[in-house]
Amino acid sequence: MIPKISTLGGYLHEYQKSVANPIGFWSNIAETFHWRKKWDEVLNWDFNKAEIEWFKGGKLNITENIFERNLFLRYEQIALIWEPNDPNEKAKTYTYNQLFTEVKKFANVLKNHDVKKGDRVAIYMPMIPELTIAMLACARIGAIHSIVFAGFSANALSERIIDAEAKILITADGGFRGSKSFDLKSIADEALERCPSIKSNIVVKRTGKDILWHKEIDFWWHDEMEKVDDIALAITMDAEDPLFILYTSGSTGKPKGVVHTIGGYMVYAAYTFRNVFQYSDGDIFFCAADIGWITGHSYIVYGPLLEGATTLMFEGIPTFPNAGRYWKIIEKYQVNQFYTSPTAIRSLIAMGQNWVENLNLKSLKVLGTVGEPINEEAWHWYHDHVGNNKCPIVDTWWQTETGGIMISPLAGIIPTKPAFATLPLPGIQPMILDNEGKKLNANSVEGNLCIKYPWPGIARTHWHDHERFKESYFSQFPGYYFTGDGVKRDEDGYYRILGRMDDVINVSGHRLGTAEIENAINEHPLVSESAVVGYSHPIKGQGIYAYVVCTEIPKKDEGMELKNSLRIGVSKMISAIAKPDIIQFTTGLPKTRSGKIMRRILRKIAENSEDYGDITTLTNPEIVKELIERHKKLLEDTL
Ligand code: WTA
Repeated sequence: MIPKISTLGGYLHEYQKSVANPIGFWSNIAETFHWRKKWDEVLNWDFNKAEIEWFKGGKLNITENIFERNLFLRYEQIALIWEPNDPNEKAKTYTYNQLFTEVKKFANVLKNHDVKKGDRVAIYMPMIPELTIAMLACARIGAIHSIVFAGFSANALSERIIDAEAKILITADGGFRGSKSFDLKSIADEALERCPSIKSNIVVKRTGKDILWHKEIDFWWHDEMEKVDDIALAITMDAEDPLFILYTSGSTGKPKGVVHTIGGYMVYAAYTFRNVFQYSDGDIFFCAADIGWITGHSYIVYGPLLEGATTLMFEGIPTFPNAGRYWKIIEKYQVNQFYTSPTAIRSLIAMGQNWVENLNLKSLKVLGTVGEPINEEAWHWYHDHVGNNKCPIVDTWWQTETGGIMISPLAGIIPTKPAFATLPLPGIQPMILDNEGKKLNANSVEGNLCIKYPWPGIARTHWHDHERFKESYFSQFPGYYFTGDGVKRDEDGYYRILGRMDDVINVSGHRLGTAEIENAINEHPLVSESAVVGYSHPIKGQGIYAYVVCTEIPKKDEGMELKNSLRIGVSKMISAIAKPDIIQFTTGLPKTRSGKIMRRILRKIAENSEDYGDITTLTNPEIVKELIERHKKLLEDTL
């Protein structure tokens, strides 16, 4: 198991060590795992070429590190608790051995469907145990999973399947979310019309609703599981073989397939899990994210299970059957560490304190947040009402591309400050650069957050597009990994994340590219152009504001209709989470002489700011006044 840092002095010492000798530091941690063959070289890197390799030549299987390595001690320990959407449905638990059996059986199902090492498996599932089983079964046989969040549309799913050339899809008839159920199979069917690479579609029965069945490619999960035994040896993999692809939004174009490789990701997910949350044997860990995002990959599945933890997976939403659901779950299972998003906290604050009071949450030791900045009010509410003033809050900053947590307090060890992610984890060397690339070494500075040295969990490439990978993170500030985030370092050297510096917006902790949303809006025949920006939203962190150019501004009723159809269009092209909150129709957008949209001005208008900066360089400065007037009118209309 990974050694736990237990004091502030210990942290400072480890941090020093990790910077003075990163190779020695990480190889010591990697030694705690089971390698079929040890690596030849700990690290090989060149940020200018965007090339990074960790533990090269090492041979292993990550599931052997989850199961065989842990079984001796944890055969009968609960590995996974599954809490269903409906509290009246029976929860499920799997011991390490039971989960292992399911994983091996499903690995054999994959083999029966001709899935081989290196093949891609697309997974489009609700939060049910089969999702965890499917991903680990892929890892068992060396297939690369590509999980697509179940809220994505048929179009988004097909784009991801096509890009990864996935061989099979694993889905479900549907899922439950609060008082509603939703279909997945019908969406998958629509997506698969465009995906010739898919040879089989394995379907879990969850809702039991009627679905269309295509017998050439559709197979029930339960039928396939009947046909196999539970003997499946782990395939030997190279440390640098891909473990998974996870698509995420960037500032331009289509979502990018971030690739994580086995050895480095394993070491980093486990190290950060153990240390940030200070997990101890016997604790119950509850991460309320969805496995469709990186947080679920690293802190529901891989990190906890590698470390022999008991991890809790929840199918539902925080407000069903009422706004006390999270707290009820914590009470029911005596959860020790709880990890969620600031948006979830803000939405629960809005429902009132009663839901959290009168419950016994004494088991809680650590509270965590992830995905977006947490405002001070939400921080204090979480600290006072959920944590009863005694649980440290770990505000964890990281990204899909970083594989695991990068800047965060270690619970109970690094003193916290509301809204600050505090200090870098050992092995992480943040740098703040100004826009010209000058290093800002002092404290009390603000700028672009970069990382100057590799860590094992860093993504290695974009699936089949290394150039884009290089361009996305290593071109703005040569020699550094650029995160896309702005950051402030205060007088104590503490880091506070300020938000994205690029055209990515963060809505309820979901990362969305403005270009993707614009492309979806521009599909509409009445739209000639659009620009999407984020604006501060009291619950979601950021809301989506779309400026839509039409040759003629629609009249009131037509405008309402057009807004509806644009929102439906965005849901169909991407997902309901990408629907604009505010749509302003306009006849033009502020542009520079080279034809570039001045988004800065659009952001200011959306934020009700009066300071638009210099607009003299615009070809059409008169449009700004129009946009402001229409914005004010929109606000009046919504009041
Ligand atoms: C933002 C989620 C402030 C940030 C794990 C980052 C945060 C993006 C925090 C990555 C935090 C994540 N405070 N902002 N604690 N954590 N972010 O890839 O802008 O979905 O770049 O990974 O979320 O989002 P992603």
